[in-house]
Amino acid sequence: MAERERNRAAAPSPRRDTLLYLDGVTKSFDGFKAIDNLSLVLQRGEMRAIIGPNGAGKTTMMDIITGKTRPDAGEVYFAGETDLTRHDEAAIASMGIGRKFQKPTVFESHTVEDNLRLALAGSRSVFGALFHRRTSDERRRRDDILTATRLTHRRNARAADLSHGQKQWLEIAMLLAQDPQLLLIDEPVAGMTDAETEETARLLGEIAETRSVVVVEHDMHFVRALGVKVTCLHEGAVLAEGPLDAVSADPRVVEVYLGR
Ligand SMILES: Nc1ncnc2c1ncn2[C@@H]1O[C@H](COP(=O)(O)OP(=O)(O)O)[C@@H](O)[C@H]1O
Ligand SMILES: [Mg+2]
Repeated sequence: MAERERNRAAAPSPRRDTLLYLDGVTKSFDGFKAIDNLSLVLQRGEMRAIIGPNGAGKTTMMDIITGKTRPDAGEVYFAGETDLTRHDEAAIASMGIGRKFQKPTVFESHTVEDNLRLALAGSRSVFGALFHRRTSDERRRRDDILTATRLTHRRNARAADLSHGQKQWLEIAMLLAQDPQLLLIDEPVAGMTDAETEETARLLGEIAETRSVVVVEHDMHFVRALGVKVTCLHEGAVLAEGPLDAVSADPRVVEVYLGR
């Protein structure tokens, strides 16, 4: 082993115990820096809320984490050791990073339960016969996910007949079917009623008891209800980070985001 490598192996790494570690990440589109020297660290089991104006780079950050977009520079590590910049989208998904896009992608003409069944079957095919579950285990898993996402009483409804909020929860249910360690969720409560928004905050809080979550959202009532550390992005970098009260009192955050 070269001496330099030995030293690196022996040195304590600041990212070792983290779940997600971004440092110095930069991504330009036609010379425009959408992500500009971004550093962000998520601990295992943490839920983080990401806020910031349109164009701040929130979605691009998620694209980089999930392998949809390659950064020009910087480090992106999962679970301390895995360099995500060296893997493609499918590989990153199978490592346990699940993503929910803003636009629902459920099968409208299928029932809630069938949508979930398909999602569970899809995740199973990745691991093949190796982790084949018994039918009763699968039913229990389905029941657990439906309970977690407040959809048990709607299990036989067509997805098309769900409320907007319930459709979003079904998306989260299908994400949970992949059994991800980390969930990335983009604007889950846009268009939801106040009651659905509050329920979604509780739902994500429960999910975060056993998984890590990064949630992008503009709804400040929702972010407050989450009660987690907040990162405000602006021009592709972290503008402020900390408890919501501190971040929302930061004059720079007020100027670029809250004072709109
Ligand atoms: N594929 C792309 N090609 C060119 N520009 C892009 C691309 N993706 C994002 N951008 C630009 O990068 C900036 C950040 O976008 P985005 O990450 O979508 O911001 P946010 O999600 O915070 O609103 C925006 O100015 C956007 O126009
Ligand atoms: Mg976005």
